[in-house]
Amino acid sequence: MSALKICLVASEVAPFAKTGGLADVAAALPRYLHAAGHDVRVFLPRYAKSELDPAETHPVDFMSDVHLAMGRLQFQYSVVTTRLPGSDLRVYAVDCPPLYGRAGIYGEEDDHLRFAFLTRAAIESCQRMGWSPHVFHCNDWHTALLPLYLKTVYGWDSMFRDSRTLLTIHNIAYQGVFARSVLRDLSLDGDAQRFYASDLEAGIVNFLKTGVLHADLLSTVSPTYAREIQSGELGMGLQGLLAQRTRSLIGILNGVDYAEWDPASDPRLPAHYGVDDLAGKEENKRRLLAELELAPADRAPLMGVISRLTAQKGFELLYEALPRALAERDTRLIALGSGATDYEGFFTQLQTKFPGKVCYYRGFSEDLAHRIEAASDIFLMPSRFEPCGLNQMYSLRYGTVPIVHRTGGLADSVQQWHWETQTGTGFLFEHFDRQGLAWALESALATYENPEAWAKLVRNGMTQDFSWEKQGAQYVEVYRRLSGVG
Ligand code: ADP
Ligand code: GLC
Repeated sequence: MSALKICLVASEVAPFAKTGGLADVAAALPRYLHAAGHDVRVFLPRYAKSELDPAETHPVDFMSDVHLAMGRLQFQYSVVTTRLPGSDLRVYAVDCPPLYGRAGIYGEEDDHLRFAFLTRAAIESCQRMGWSPHVFHCNDWHTALLPLYLKTVYGWDSMFRDSRTLLTIHNIAYQGVFARSVLRDLSLDGDAQRFYASDLEAGIVNFLKTGVLHADLLSTVSPTYAREIQSGELGMGLQGLLAQRTRSLIGILNGVDYAEWDPASDPRLPAHYGVDDLAGKEENKRRLLAELELAPADRAPLMGVISRLTAQKGFELLYEALPRALAERDTRLIALGSGATDYEGFFTQLQTKFPGKVCYYRGFSEDLAHRIEAASDIFLMPSRFEPCGLNQMYSLRYGTVPIVHRTGGLADSVQQWHWETQTGTGFLFEHFDRQGLAWALESALATYENPEAWAKLVRNGMTQDFSWEKQGAQYVEVYRRLSGVG
């Protein structure tokens, strides 16, 4: 079979820029594709806070001080290339300080321009490299205009005649909706008819919806979420359109990069361990509790939370059950994350109310995320909806039993524990309500009290395989089907 040429464009790629799971996937999938012998080129912006190792980062020939007009606005950009850690794959960072030299990654008032620019810079870089990808793989609203640009602004270029487009929806809750007037700055004002007519009438343009209209194929990050977004509230207004394209919409569960997330080799852990010897897990727990000044808990369960604190993540379900569990039982909690003030307030209050039992770290810390996965016994992920979710899969490998709402990728990756058959990997509650969560938490805490059952449950989870070798092969199949390359 011949090697594929894949151009993947994303707003975040770990470790260069990360706010959530998109970054993990946009690094791990290309790493897998490259190792499998495909020619994959990844583009992302070079943000002010991107830490590129100077020894590994080089300018790209013919791509410095390139001129690019967005409507009447003139920009110059350069492309630098850097090595993806753990691989010899080189990724391309688009360097344009007026657009990307800001403190944050998202939330700027010209985000429409910043991310449309990224897609155009990626396309123009392909032109300069004389490289025709079989597939442009776009991710989320930020890069969703790429298929339309190929048909319009770059429609003249025959080098893309056989290129196909795949748009992966990692989270339909973010669609990139802007005032219609931005079309001029996108160099698309002559192509307004290609946007959704009723949006234009309402004075808006929607990047993701436009991508859904124009991409050759659509995918999302779990089979269950692929079904959920075609009906009802989880489609966030796009359900009708997606249902019309149902034959072109597939769900592929994300993989786990076990080179990054394996307790047997994770360099961030003080002690390593594996399914046949969990002594290292106990050691990680002891050390983390001590460092965070929590009381020792050799026989008591430690619960972990690592999350963006947004409404999607459903932490209001914990508001009664968690304080009750902390008050009535010998339990500990370590929570990591920041975002919505009500969620932050909840974890802050718990910390004040239960000194020695609860630690809340408000912020982002890759080190602490790995250490919480390793130290915890139980992982709390009550998401209202979850396109895929990675932490529940990391938890399984780290021997940390997930408690999840049966939705999206959580439903596809966690199996209910059954005492009688000793099967299953975690606890799932069906309906998004406090009773459901309370039931799942009680069941988990009760099971923890039986060390033999708990050991079996942990073992079941640790032996699951969500590697990219399995999941990535499904993308390769899709790329081949799409491009006709055998
Ligand atoms: P989402 O993409 O919706 O945030 P995922 O479960 O797919 O959810 O991925 C979240 C990723 O972000 C994981 O790698 C997780 O460890 C990481 N993460 C989330 N919050 C934090 C944080 N505060 N500090 C460090 N890593 C975090
Ligand atoms: C999104 C989703 C999350 C998914 C991640 C990577 O941020 O919220 O469920 O795992 O993208 O695909």
